[in-house]
Amino acid sequence: MENLKVAVVGAGIYGIHHVDVYKQNPFVELVAVCDFNAEIRGGIEKKYKVNTYATVEEMLANEKLNAVSIATPDHLHVEPAVACINHGLDVLIEKPLATTVRDCQIILDAAEKNQVRVAVDFHKRWDPAAIYTYNQLKESENGYPIRGYMNMDDTIDVPTKWFKWGNASDPIDFLGVHCVDLMRWYMNCEVTEVYSVGSKKLLPSLGVDTYDSVQSIITFENDCAWTLENSWILPSGFAKVNDSRTAVLTSEKYIRINNQDRGVEMADKEKTHTPNVFFFNDFNNKVVGFGADPINSFIDSLIDGSDFVADVYDGLQAAKVTDAIHESLRTGERVKLQ
Ligand SMILES: NC(=O)c1ccc[n+]([C@@H]2O[C@H](COP(=O)([O-])OP(=O)(O)OC[C@H]3O[C@@H](n4cnc5c(N)ncnc54)[C@H](O)[C@@H]3O)[C@@H](O)[C@H]2O)c1
Repeated sequence: MENLKVAVVGAGIYGIHHVDVYKQNPFVELVAVCDFNAEIRGGIEKKYKVNTYATVEEMLANEKLNAVSIATPDHLHVEPAVACINHGLDVLIEKPLATTVRDCQIILDAAEKNQVRVAVDFHKRWDPAAIYTYNQLKESENGYPIRGYMNMDDTIDVPTKWFKWGNASDPIDFLGVHCVDLMRWYMNCEVTEVYSVGSKKLLPSLGVDTYDSVQSIITFENDCAWTLENSWILPSGFAKVNDSRTAVLTSEKYIRINNQDRGVEMADKEKTHTPNVFFFNDFNNKVVGFGADPINSFIDSLIDGSDFVADVYDGLQAAKVTDAIHESLRTGERVKLQ
């Protein structure tokens, strides 16, 4: 079988990981990278020796492809994704699938119409701590989950320094969607009700018109209620760019994860860092870790025809919950989903 011809659309902070992983996958030929940014395109041509394009249309007109990764900003997934899907290509889309249910549905409809496969990069499903939790909950024969807690927060550098598009996303679409996807995966059922409150003070005062922090109570069909906290304003001095904890209480087990502590500390003249050594690491000229795994898993599923670990339907279901969180923030009411 010939190698799959693959391209990446959006080669910024995260898309470059897709480029690296495809470049190293023995079943893939990375043929093109597309990014609006000329400086990024120049750097990629030099380092990876692949064709680059400023627009998806130009790339699709010039390259013969089998699959594409979309790693454009959260609110800009739908347009390039639908262009690639309408071209008959299988697609891996960065989380969130899209920032509204409407956009997710447009992607899903296009995929069905063109009979192509769409995966979503909910990479937290590949985190060893999440896999352990999933297996523990699954193996609990007579047990049932009663209460869950999850937070996922970023330092304030993420919305103020990393992106120019902080205004167009928020801690829910960027971080909360990971949590909602993990909760759905752990619970193996859907959300019935959402109630959220949020604060919007600090980031708007710094010119980023979005939520500082959002707290939600999310109830599932199995009656398990989760508390979810997401913020984008941890102080820059925090030891890691991201903080995340989970606690699940079942009738039989109590599982706790502290993702801030991956067992490694590194102190330099500025501060002590606690790097997430399981996410991306360089080893033997390869990018390894649970950030790389879902990209390789997308390729495995295309080759052997197996189901994606997280697909377009999972992306849509997660967006229904994040949409409900936004509605609850707007109205101050509980929002029923079913
Ligand atoms: N940064 C992270 O830590 C991180 C982690 C996990 C997932 N993600 C997800 O990855 C996606 C990208 O995030 P990022 O941090 O890399 O953003 P980024 O702003 O660093 O990069 C986005 C890139 O997409 C390009 N772009 C935008 N629209 C385009 C289009 N239509 N055609 C071609 N290029 C286009 C921009 O020029 C930019 O270079 C987001 O959905 C984000 O949620 C990011």
